[in-house]
Amino acid sequence: MRYALMKRAPMKGGIRGLLTTLELLGVRSLRRRLLLLSTVTFISGLAQAALLVILSELAVSSAQRRKHLVIEGHSLSIEQALLLGLVLLAIFFAAGMITASATSSISGISLEEGRNTMIDAFFDADWSVQAEERLGHVQQLLTVNCEDLAVVVLAMANGLQSLLTVLALLLAAFLVNPIVAGGVLIVGMLLYLLLRPINAWTRRASGQLAEDSQTMATLVTEYTRLARDFRLFGVKDPAKDQLHVRNGRAARSFRRNRHLGLLIPVVYQTFALGFVVVGLAVLASRGGNALGATAAVVLLVLRSLTYGANIQATSQQLHSYEAFLDGLTEELDRYHRGKEKEDGICLPMSFSIEFDNVSFSYDESKDVLHDISFNVPEGQLLGIVGRSGSGKTTVSQLLLGLRRPSRGNVMIGDVPSSKIVSGEGISPIALVAQEPVLLQGSIAWNIAFFRAVSQEEIESAALAAHLHDEISMMPNGYATTVGEGGAALSGGQRQRLAIARALIGRPRLLLLDEPTSALDRRSEQLLRETLAELRGRVTVVVISHRLATIEDCDLLLVLEKGRVADFGPSRDVQAGEGFKRATHPAPDTRAATSL
Ligand SMILES: Nc1ncnc2c1ncn2[C@@H]1O[C@H](COP(=O)(O)OP(=O)(O)OP(=O)(O)O)[C@@H](O)[C@H]1O
Ligand SMILES: [Mg+2]
Repeated sequence: MRYALMKRAPMKGGIRGLLTTLELLGVRSLRRRLLLLSTVTFISGLAQAALLVILSELAVSSAQRRKHLVIEGHSLSIEQALLLGLVLLAIFFAAGMITASATSSISGISLEEGRNTMIDAFFDADWSVQAEERLGHVQQLLTVNCEDLAVVVLAMANGLQSLLTVLALLLAAFLVNPIVAGGVLIVGMLLYLLLRPINAWTRRASGQLAEDSQTMATLVTEYTRLARDFRLFGVKDPAKDQLHVRNGRAARSFRRNRHLGLLIPVVYQTFALGFVVVGLAVLASRGGNALGATAAVVLLVLRSLTYGANIQATSQQLHSYEAFLDGLTEELDRYHRGKEKEDGICLPMSFSIEFDNVSFSYDESKDVLHDISFNVPEGQLLGIVGRSGSGKTTVSQLLLGLRRPSRGNVMIGDVPSSKIVSGEGISPIALVAQEPVLLQGSIAWNIAFFRAVSQEEIESAALAAHLHDEISMMPNGYATTVGEGGAALSGGQRQRLAIARALIGRPRLLLLDEPTSALDRRSEQLLRETLAELRGRVTVVVISHRLATIEDCDLLLVLEKGRVADFGPSRDVQAGEGFKRATHPAPDTRAATSL
């Protein structure tokens, strides 16, 4: 499915592939940081190995009541050996502290860099890509999926540390007893080969889990927002059933994934311990009296096996996360492909709007706009009317440059609308959308909307939007918090707040999509006054079903099934047939009888 996070095979397998993927996701200088970590870890591993050799020799010497011990041909007194042990312990401790802090900082930095990359990619993507996103998908991507980045980096760092420690321990074991160390190496490789197929199953199971979790998350976001409607329509139970089915599917994937995860340590440990038993039997059968050396090798091998288990677990974890990372890079690719043009042009100082034979389709199969042509001189008020689905919002999106026409040109002055960008902190083009979305925060913050404006400017925008009086009557005034999605405000207040947000940027082109749909007569009258005040200074395009709003327009565009049914001075158009059809639709007899 389209939004699944797992779709294709990884670009490159193994650690190198993962590193490349992480770099693609914006995690910088990871190789350098991991190299640094490896060096410290190797030193720590050598210190640990030397310590284990000294400890076993010490234990054997004291058991045999000897005053000296011999390590690799060097004779040491008990005191010297203890002192050396303490120094090695200090090195081990210091290296451990350094690696702990380095590992956590590497994963933290990766989370930050990776998430910033995804945030930039999404917000820099074209509107056509952003508008397609399903509710909850981006949220899941930027929160949960980005955290996987940190988990992967943490696993890589842990795996690397285990690997280097095993190498250091085996190096020591080679020096003490090359045959046993060689045996450990061979068994390690055999174990790796034996567990390879399980890793491949893990990767597949994780891909399925990624897909199921993503679907579940998207569905939960959608359904929780619809809780009220489910209750009112009496469909709460079927909706819950849907969620239960999805949840069951996700839980089964989870179980499969975890089962494989738990299987590997059992197989690994059984084989590893079996090897120690066989190894000891071989050593015993060979005889000899190098008791200290034998004890040291056993200790080193046992420690190696513990770290080996870590490597195995990490390798499996990394395999299971490959699918998630591939999904992230795929989404990143999609956002980058739809990236807005960097070389944008500012809104010209003086401009008229021109639609020249514009056709448009959302999915390249069927045009929703056909050969639209009209012209609006600067400072005029254009009204767009038409039945639902006739293409009004689509025309407004082309005008705002949010989408590009399939054929023809949309020009603002002598610039195609899709090339026009707003400068930093100024909003010469403003939109009051059909369903305004408010931020969680104060009313003032919602009007300012990330622009550096003074309290006076905020209040005068609210005054112009005829919202100031109501805000002043609230106990906290402009500091009143509006809940998520603006729940503390009424529909009409929310719409007027959106108008204040648009006006504060002193727009020169203002587009309002159904601004009066949630307004009562008095508020609508006030909005008409606001628009009248802008006349001549601002080019205004207003989409409306309300006749009162339309009456004030200089020009009217009537759309019918994606075509221009009429266009011209308001009075002329209002007298025409197209306008009447659009505003007084004939009753649909089929719909009436079917009810
Ligand atoms: N994102 C989209 N993907 C595919 N088709 C779309 C999309 N948005 C709108 N359409 C289609 O384009 C046509 C015009 O839609 P548009 O939203 O412009 O209508 P509208 O006149 O604004 O309607 P309303 O008055 O209901 O808001 C409709 O047939 C609609 O189904
Ligand atoms: Mg619309």
